[in-house]
Amino acid sequence: MNDIAIVTCSAPINIAIVKYWGKRDNELILPINSSLSTTLSQDDFKTVTTVMASKSFQRDRVWLNGIELDKLDRRLQNCIRNLREKANERKNERNFQNMCLHICSYNNFPTSAGLASSASGYACLVYAIASLFHLEERWAGELSTCARLGSGSACRSMYGGWVKWEKGRNQADGNDSIAVQIADQRHWPDIVVLILVFSQQQKPISSTEAMQRSMETSTLLPYRAEHIVHHRIELLENAIMTKNFDTFAKLVMQESNQFHAICLDTYPPIMYLNEQSKSLIKLLSKYNEYHKMIKAAYTFDAGPNAVIYTLKENFQELKRVLNYYYPRSEADWEPELIPDQLSTYLDLPVIKNALKHIIYTNIGGGPKVWPSGPHLLDIATGLPYAEKVHAPPPEPSEPF
Ligand code: DP6
Repeated sequence: MNDIAIVTCSAPINIAIVKYWGKRDNELILPINSSLSTTLSQDDFKTVTTVMASKSFQRDRVWLNGIELDKLDRRLQNCIRNLREKANERKNERNFQNMCLHICSYNNFPTSAGLASSASGYACLVYAIASLFHLEERWAGELSTCARLGSGSACRSMYGGWVKWEKGRNQADGNDSIAVQIADQRHWPDIVVLILVFSQQQKPISSTEAMQRSMETSTLLPYRAEHIVHHRIELLENAIMTKNFDTFAKLVMQESNQFHAICLDTYPPIMYLNEQSKSLIKLLSKYNEYHKMIKAAYTFDAGPNAVIYTLKENFQELKRVLNYYYPRSEADWEPELIPDQLSTYLDLPVIKNALKHIIYTNIGGGPKVWPSGPHLLDIATGLPYAEKVHAPPPEPSEPF
């Protein structure tokens, strides 16, 4: 048996188009409704994680973005324990699962993107440890159940493209609550995704805490879970499979609106959208109305930053509209960016200095092993390199 093993992987983030909100089991992280997401390209956003096992390690240790965790929280422990148990059940010859692990993880995306990293973080952790332990899935979606133990939305980052998280129903162990890829990243190449960062501040209340409060107080939430989501997912799956942008876009916006209505129905209410988020909702609604067809769809998660879906053919005009209405400074504003006819119809104020960044990206693939590294841990010492191997990319300074 070898004395050490090392694996490095990367994993993507995902954006929910049907939101997961509410747990029926807090320990196993089982949701009250199924959800749907798009996985974003790892060219722009990814977590990179190196996992190393060694007989000489004394305890499990984790470094996140260069800083060692004082102690591993419950979710992290649950995840690692679950993977070890699975490896032991399989009686793998290479017994790495019984050695201590050193885990080093970086989010290779700028903090200014205003995106949560727990989904890519846990997906990457699970994918990397499973590779180190040589854990083959015994049934489809098995590894997604391990990622789910870290953070619900992480199970969807285990696949690329268009992904459904089935809430599961029957199994007490939650093994039927799995992520399933409904189409891969090549399915609808015309889709472009824009991320509009209005705020880089931490959200006032975490998703975990907020959804718990909604579970306790919102009367709309159980209605939605029982009567709305199932049908909405069917309609959206159909729109995705037939590449019907109009239907897709409308459902995505309605879904985002409903999610934020539930936040407001929670007591005390949760308000993730700010004035700029609301201005964008108005802008895109009027813009679509002007064209008498849907050209762009917004969705907002637990924060004020928008994710917009559009088609390649609409992208250039949409960029101009966004740059016109959200110039980053007085000097950036160009009145000739859009035709007078459009600005007259939209009749909305120009909002200066509100938009921090726009990042445009695509639908992308799932987690991958980096067979030849580079690793984030020094194989000689088992510690992170003093110099970052994966320095985060520069902050995006210019929109587009
Ligand atoms: C609004 O997955 O972060 O982004 O399971 O408690 O870790 P925990 O919550 P988390 O919640 C994500 C909520 C959401 C919608 C979604 O991604 O589906």
